[in-house]
Amino acid sequence: MDGLHAVISSDFHYTAQENISDLIVPLMKYAKPALSALFAQVRQEKPDVFIICGDNTNSGRTADMYYIRDQLRMIRDEGIRIVMVPGNHDLDLCTPERYESIYGELLQADCRDPHSLSYTCTVKDTVFFAMDDSSLHDTHGILSDASMAWLKQQLQRYRGSSCTKVFVSHHGVLDEPWNRRPELYRILNPGLQDLLVSNGVRLCLSGHQHFPSALIRRGILQITAPMPLANSFTYCDLRLRDGYAEERLVPIRFSEQLVPLFNKKHERSSGFRLDAVRSLLGSSAQTDRMTEVAAEWFHHMEHGTLGQFKKHMHEPVCEQTLHMLDHTDYGSWMRALLDEPYTDPSHILFQL
Ligand SMILES: [Fe+2]
Ligand SMILES: [Fe+2]
Repeated sequence: MDGLHAVISSDFHYTAQENISDLIVPLMKYAKPALSALFAQVRQEKPDVFIICGDNTNSGRTADMYYIRDQLRMIRDEGIRIVMVPGNHDLDLCTPERYESIYGELLQADCRDPHSLSYTCTVKDTVFFAMDDSSLHDTHGILSDASMAWLKQQLQRYRGSSCTKVFVSHHGVLDEPWNRRPELYRILNPGLQDLLVSNGVRLCLSGHQHFPSALIRRGILQITAPMPLANSFTYCDLRLRDGYAEERLVPIRFSEQLVPLFNKKHERSSGFRLDAVRSLLGSSAQTDRMTEVAAEWFHHMEHGTLGQFKKHMHEPVCEQTLHMLDHTDYGSWMRALLDEPYTDPSHILFQL
């Protein structure tokens, strides 16, 4: 075996609806050309598998789901396997039965969970546990007791096998250090981490956060794939070979005509966020410099290079910025990086 090559993306939030805000997600109104560029790049890259971590459409509208299904069909027809899980938004207007009837044909499952949309599938010597964590059908991630029992059974099936085991879900498995409300981002089942650790799962892939991140805890590497319509417009490229997982963030290649427009949209969203920070800091020559520090932080966060920013965190102006923002979500997010080890998702090499 020459290893496994995967492309991972998440949170397309695709919709053809025009009355949608693009203030926070800058390419929301340009989802079609932006996602077309991503899908064309995937077809060109020809990975073994294209992994999509949920919130595939913005609300589970049938017409939007058909668009995504048709795009993924073209990728599958190039011989690229599809591994896809539902996110909380996929079931806003859609039942699990309809979800299955539209996307089911894309997924070559080895075994399906009769209680949810979860399934296992094997690509080369890697087995994917593609989990539906929408048991509550709201913004929280949880697996039902029946699905936990099914997962346990499936993990036991592969005990002692030499294959690499990869857990795929919409919400994460590990707590993000910055997050004041981890229950919104992590799968809630208390026994899940223990179950994965004791069954030799070392790699978890997720979405839901919309920005790229990577955490290593309890011997597990968790990669959170970014949304393609925001942040740095990237996807994750993953290679599993010789006992290592190597991941890189790769920019989506948009057509030259679209780049200036997309950059403008991105600047508008970034400006909106910085205005919020500026209003927290107040306006003076000193706080202008602090806003610049926050802007740098956001840039590195979006590009998965916060490790580079961390080197400057002890400079007085950084400390002052953190102090001024301490009582806000922005401050706790930024400060968490001083206190917690953080792995940059721009490039990771991890021994499995
Ligand atoms: Fe999302
Ligand atoms: Fe989500």
